[in-house]
Amino acid sequence: MTAALKQIPGESGLPLLGHSLKFIKNCNNLYDEMHAKYGPVYYNEYLTTRAVNLLSPEGNEFVLLDRAGNFSSRMAWNMSLKALFPNGLMLRDGDEHRLHRRLMGAPFKTSALALYVDTMNPDIANTVQTWAKQDTFLFYPAIKQLTLDLAAKIFLGETLQEEAQDINKAFVDVVDASMVVVRYPFLGNKYQRGLEGRALLENYFAARISQKRSSNDTDMFAEISRAEVEDGTTFSDQDVIDHMIFLMMAAHDTTTSSISSICYALAKNPIWQQHIREEAKAIGAQQLSYDNMANFDAAGLVLKEALRLYPPLPMIPRMAIKDCEFEGFAIKKGQHVHVSPYFTQRLPEIWSNPTKFDPLRFSKERSEDKIHRHAWIPFGGGAHKCLGLKFAELQVKLVLFHLLKKYEISVDPDYEMPYAPAPIGKPSDQLPLKLTRL
Ligand code: HEM
Repeated sequence: MTAALKQIPGESGLPLLGHSLKFIKNCNNLYDEMHAKYGPVYYNEYLTTRAVNLLSPEGNEFVLLDRAGNFSSRMAWNMSLKALFPNGLMLRDGDEHRLHRRLMGAPFKTSALALYVDTMNPDIANTVQTWAKQDTFLFYPAIKQLTLDLAAKIFLGETLQEEAQDINKAFVDVVDASMVVVRYPFLGNKYQRGLEGRALLENYFAARISQKRSSNDTDMFAEISRAEVEDGTTFSDQDVIDHMIFLMMAAHDTTTSSISSICYALAKNPIWQQHIREEAKAIGAQQLSYDNMANFDAAGLVLKEALRLYPPLPMIPRMAIKDCEFEGFAIKKGQHVHVSPYFTQRLPEIWSNPTKFDPLRFSKERSEDKIHRHAWIPFGGGAHKCLGLKFAELQVKLVLFHLLKKYEISVDPDYEMPYAPAPIGKPSDQLPLKLTRL
């Protein structure tokens, strides 16, 4: 490190609190405010963390691709997730992470994904069918329940009924606890319920691993229990438990968030509902098969555009494990370094009319996302890029296929979705949508 390096500008905010209140209220507004004051490289403090923020596609690439091995994902995510999701894939680094990621490939290979699609088709069609019976339809809780039911089948190979309701509740408690600000168990608070939920899930998985290992089941739990690489390495029981609990968390609120934002955007832009509906009809089948996914283009464009405007993770954290340098600024070992999908996905240098919902910006002709490889990063990038992105895409497409064949989605003309972007984006009013049967 040379003396010529620049000091990073920024501010600490209020004593003790820093910018925590602003961050919790709307971290996206905080990014806009700080960027306007200091530019794309600055530091600030929130939730007891002093973080250097790099708000540019170049910053995303530097941190996520991490060619020089400057950053740890484990040390950054451990700050918020260690107690509830210890040793999940995202909370591992280096060679260990590479090995575990390779072992986790099995449940995400094409043949496995195609089976999940077959399983999800009828369940989604049946659930969506029941939605019109309600006058004021709160979309967010409905889609959250649907994705949870689907996860039970696909991840665990179970239908969550009766005895399994405990698993359902434990899982919801663990995920809810991961979102709280006060991470201290106290008198049955959310965090304590989360830790209890984690204990229950650990017992659930531990009791079933050996049976899953010797089964021919096709759910993710079975695939991960049986996973093996060429030299014979397999996961220990504790690895299976840690990966399963993390996987379910990583999949659940992110997909719920994405489908909610998509349906809000579609309610505001009915022409895109029409495009998707026409493609669904042209497919000419009751179910959307894995092979037909590629012919469902409009849904793919809408997904990309909704994730651009409403990335479920507004921020991705790392910790520097070496002194390093970015564009002439000194970053010290031990510093937290954050990048923001939200911010770079609205940069006017990259995106034309950035606040407009315009899925065609992702078309082959316009390809705005190709201007910089790390301008569009809702799934992250580099070694930790989302392992479930294909699965998420399939699930989103299936929901759109069945939903839009049955309903026109609408909102009052002056309705704007109130959005809470952190820690995982969601509509703060549960998203009331009108579903009109076609
Ligand atoms: C639209 C939905 C989703 C979004 C936006 C999303 C976003 C992300 C992001 C940004 C990361 C990288 C975090 C980092 O670099 O620190 C990530 C990692 C991960 N996601 Fe997703 N995710 C989604 C759905 C899923 C689903 C459905 C699954 C599983 C079925 C999943 C499993 C994972 C796993 C295992 C990792 C860790 C990868 C690693 O560390 O190697 N995600 N996700």
